[in-house]
Amino acid sequence: MATLIKKNNNRNLAIGDVQFWKKEKLGLSGSTSVANFQITVFRDDIIRIQVSREDCFSTNPYSVVMEPQETHYIIEENEDFLLLKTKKIKVHIQLYPFSLTYLTLDDRIINKDDAAFAVSWLGTEVTNYKSVQPNEKFIGLGEKTGGLNRAGSAYTNWNTDYFAYGVNDDPLYMSIPFYIGVQNNLSYGIFFDNTHKTTFNFGASTNRFIYFSAEDGDLDYYFMYDESISQIISAYTDLTGKMEMPPMWSLGFQQCRYSYYPESEVLTLAQTFRDKKMPADVIYLDIHHMEKYKVFTFDGEKFPNPKAMITKLKEKGFKVVVIMDPGVKTEKGYLPFDEGLEKDLFVKYPDGEVYEGQVWPGWCAFPDYTKPETRKWWAEKMEFYKEAGVDGYWTDMNEPASWGQHTPNLIDFSYEGEDVSHRKARNIYGMQMARSANEGSRLQRPGERPFILTRSGFSGIQRFAAAWTGDNVATEDHMLAGVRLVNSLGLSGVSFAGYDVGGFAGEASKSLFARWMSIATFSPFYRAHSMINSNDAEPWSFGEEVEEISRNYMKLRYKLLPTIYSSFYKSTLDGLPLSKSLAIDHPHDENIYESSFQNEYIFCDSLLIAPVESTKEITKVYLPAGDWYYLYNSQFHHGSQVIYQDCPTSYLPVFVKAGSILVLQSEIYHTGEVHDGALRIHLYKGKGQTTYLHYEDDGKSFNYKNGISFSRNIHWDSDNMTLRFEEGQGEYSSSFSKIMVFCHGFDSEKASGGFGEMKAEKQNIAFLGRLTEFDPLPDHLHEYHENSNIDTFSFDHLRDEFEIKFS
Ligand code: NOJ
Repeated sequence: MATLIKKNNNRNLAIGDVQFWKKEKLGLSGSTSVANFQITVFRDDIIRIQVSREDCFSTNPYSVVMEPQETHYIIEENEDFLLLKTKKIKVHIQLYPFSLTYLTLDDRIINKDDAAFAVSWLGTEVTNYKSVQPNEKFIGLGEKTGGLNRAGSAYTNWNTDYFAYGVNDDPLYMSIPFYIGVQNNLSYGIFFDNTHKTTFNFGASTNRFIYFSAEDGDLDYYFMYDESISQIISAYTDLTGKMEMPPMWSLGFQQCRYSYYPESEVLTLAQTFRDKKMPADVIYLDIHHMEKYKVFTFDGEKFPNPKAMITKLKEKGFKVVVIMDPGVKTEKGYLPFDEGLEKDLFVKYPDGEVYEGQVWPGWCAFPDYTKPETRKWWAEKMEFYKEAGVDGYWTDMNEPASWGQHTPNLIDFSYEGEDVSHRKARNIYGMQMARSANEGSRLQRPGERPFILTRSGFSGIQRFAAAWTGDNVATEDHMLAGVRLVNSLGLSGVSFAGYDVGGFAGEASKSLFARWMSIATFSPFYRAHSMINSNDAEPWSFGEEVEEISRNYMKLRYKLLPTIYSSFYKSTLDGLPLSKSLAIDHPHDENIYESSFQNEYIFCDSLLIAPVESTKEITKVYLPAGDWYYLYNSQFHHGSQVIYQDCPTSYLPVFVKAGSILVLQSEIYHTGEVHDGALRIHLYKGKGQTTYLHYEDDGKSFNYKNGISFSRNIHWDSDNMTLRFEEGQGEYSSSFSKIMVFCHGFDSEKASGGFGEMKAEKQNIAFLGRLTEFDPLPDHLHEYHENSNIDTFSFDHLRDEFEIKFS
């Protein structure tokens, strides 16, 4: 490598002319007078760019889990540029000065460096300037507030504890430096793999370029290009990993409060859910379960016998999730502190003194989770919760938070032995705590899938934990902002995400709480939470009407579990979110970015959710391309149009995509309960072909990884008017013994006349007649259904392939 110019004059220093380059096994490397660079073909659709002013490239050992794949590519040499070509993408490497342009194979520009500044430095700060393409939009970037289209805004990645943040405030708790650009019928992804404080400016205060920069470290980014946004998200999650199947119970309704205590209150809470017939699976123990907020303790007065209490909760069908904060009280004689000191597991000042910051317990030491020994120790300490029978773990305050919010930058972290300062380690700290909790759960509960909920994280966090969006506020704006945050996390690899239903800070109005409960029915993570010294905020605390609305939607959530669970499984394979911003399937439709429509999303591939303030009685909904059915009465609407939809708090606007196969089960009150054995398949007639992957397993173990699961594709083909069930796969026996098919949108006369001729190979189909009510909806929601015609039939559920033909 060349000896580099070190002097920088406090002015912008651009990378300059290439002086030397050579081919490498998977690309090429070279240098200019100020930096070394390396371009690696990671896969046909993924190119990694590294540029450094140091002699060695720096790396982040935490986020990328994929190795480069050997693939065929060529490098064409020209006088003043090189052209690197894979099967998917071309990279035009201009040599004098160095700058990159990414092109499609038919030479359309996907993305291009600013010709003058390309890669530049200001002191240690490195920046990549990109020219903006006409009408270019930017989406994703993880847990970021603001609009769906981030053009015109700038963001900082610096994990921050931010109580009651505003809906446009930044930064929040989690950093995911990955965004997707959309322009001219093309889209691409950029993952800037640098854990320092980074900035992404999509055109705030400048119209010349957009840029991303890091306070220090290398420019190290992955450029992804493919035909669809789905493929780009899949590529990003191939790089940074996919989530594993969570336990089934974590998809149920979860109730939290800061804090439920004493024991009697927790038990009464659990019993109230059961008495009121409101389905729920999880109760949380927030910080008051501890003695003086000390992690790995129970408060002996409030919880004299945690094990007995948790046993009682389990008898009622509840799981218990306990909070873990990183701060360890610096108190001599308190074992976790003494052990941490003795084993040298805490974060320290450069002179070796243990760093202390104040959090709930007072002055605390902070475990250095960027050290494998610390993660292992913490995982072992979690035996304390195993003894009590705790099921899941909530890693909070792991930015790390401390009162004052200014952790000194000089403190040292191991960073897997690299020994770095807070500047490089902060953004990764929370993710390593979640990782340690995940390892602890595996250690303490062998063979059981962990459930970890985290507040802080970084790219790759989806491998270890679900995420929630921290301390939101009980306002209409926050409710809608939470939807965008979850959708943005979904664009950034984090499929299992949610928000505090009802708002953490402040007091929700009756209607706001009701609406929030209904929207969150269609959120991957479904938990109500509220803060200390606020009014009661359980779903029955807002009066009878809200209780009834909440119950209806909670029941619907549990009925939808076969679909939700199957979508989780799909996400473990393709990395795509359950809550899909409309930008994923309709990126080039301008309407979806409009402020009135940007919150809409597709849930589990078939439901269009149009979140709307609880104060509205009627709302505009944009139905994107395709045809749609209103969930509550199967009323048909053509897509690519705006409709007006009434939206009293009891009816959240939800539409089913034509061609969808929506799969439900009978009402249950927690996921441990047994359904009635009938799988309800709702077929919504639509044009073309659709495939739904139905998936089941035991819901708790890792056996599914060894093929102990049941899955089958179900296809709708409108050309042949057939519903075809492929043969069931896997060694698990489906828990359903019967299938019921509900046909929506089939012409009523044809359907009634047609049923005599409806054939099923190998099966005996019993026509159940025409239902006058829509099965998925609980009683209260039936009122729209009095006149609906839904043909229904039923048959035994066998593994064999079979087909139903409509004629
Ligand atoms: C901050 C978290 O964001 C909140 O959810 C929790 O209730 C409090 N810490 C107390 O533990």
